[in-house]
Amino acid sequence: MSSPTKTLAPMSGFVSDRVRTLAPSPTLAVSDRAREMKAQGIDVIDLGGGDPDFITPEHIRLAATNAMNAGETHYVASAGIPALREAIAEKLRVDNGITVDPRGGVVVTPGGKQALFEAALTFVEPGVDVLIPEPAWVSYAPMVELAGGTAIPVPLDPDDNWRLTRANLTSALTPATRILLLNSPNNPTGRVLDDRELGDIASFALDHGLLVFSDEMYEKILYDENRHTSIATLPGMAERTLIFNGLSKAYAMTGWRLGYVAGPPAFIQQIEKVHSHSVTCATSFVQRAGVVALSGPQNFIDEMVQAWDRRRRAVAADLNLLPGVLCPLVEGAFYAFVDIRKTGMPSVAAADLLLQEAHVAVTPGVAFGAAGEGHLRLSFATSDELLEEAVDRIGNAFGRRAA
Ligand SMILES: Cc1ncc(COP(=O)(O)O)c(C=O)c1O
Repeated sequence: MSSPTKTLAPMSGFVSDRVRTLAPSPTLAVSDRAREMKAQGIDVIDLGGGDPDFITPEHIRLAATNAMNAGETHYVASAGIPALREAIAEKLRVDNGITVDPRGGVVVTPGGKQALFEAALTFVEPGVDVLIPEPAWVSYAPMVELAGGTAIPVPLDPDDNWRLTRANLTSALTPATRILLLNSPNNPTGRVLDDRELGDIASFALDHGLLVFSDEMYEKILYDENRHTSIATLPGMAERTLIFNGLSKAYAMTGWRLGYVAGPPAFIQQIEKVHSHSVTCATSFVQRAGVVALSGPQNFIDEMVQAWDRRRRAVAADLNLLPGVLCPLVEGAFYAFVDIRKTGMPSVAAADLLLQEAHVAVTPGVAFGAAGEGHLRLSFATSDELLEEAVDRIGNAFGRRAA
């Protein structure tokens, strides 16, 4: 006799609490809404994403197609092809003054995001608190929470140029804090940690025995006199720092998905276990392109940064003319983080207004944590013409509201 069929529980009953309570990425949500409006025939300008408006340089594209045509279409070593791990170690030595072992100190991942996710799974568990200076990139806190830990915001002050001080860190510290997550140049504020900040942060990490996750994704996108220093170069920090980086931003390779984590082999070997059981390896021929990107000509980066610098200035000059709007010149990355506190509008309402009335998609600052409220993030990695048009429309929408 066959047993009676059991009724299927409501779908929500199958979803883990971990995921049910997780909000989708707010930046991707902005882009999705913009795409939907475009599909309805509305002429939306999307300044919500974080994607360079340049195509990957030809010599890098060729490296991938050549590798593919030569039959490099198979699984490769889980941690990455040796040539790429060596190119990454060489890049870290030359650009950052950091020594890592290409055999045991690097894991190549499909995007820097995956490297951060694997590290979260490796080092975070229930009972572990992670300090995250805010405003912060939208995926850090969800990654910590998915791994069962608690994200502890370290709110920074826009009136102090988002400076990260020992006092900020000390007031957020909990007895369960084990990790400090840094991101310089920062998404969304563009802040580049200076030597004084780095010194204070390093001594704080050493005093409290913390592991540091250093997300250096935007290290090549710097303006004016700003320079990038990895916290791993400070005394005593190499042993406790994991460096996260990738090729998405500097080489206009967002769609290729190529990133890495580098650091002390004892930590990296643990991450490798998560890596091998999740993605196996990053795409074989994409890794070949990565070797050529890192070891080939780098002048392309300067050309992109010059274009973004021009747009950074143009956007700030135009937005600063609007009543109640303050658009400081950012130090790095390719986002304007516009202060609208004086307009009295919450950031979600302002972003909605711009989408509905101006057909310009931007990200509300609160998506980057409570400290980002009163701000809007606009990507200026968009063509000069579109950006000019977008800023014009923003001016009209804000002007109409002020009138
Ligand atoms: C601060 C920061 N870290 C990491 C990433 C991940 O980049 P990817 O996965 O494309 O390497 C991004 C992407 O927007 C970012 O802004």
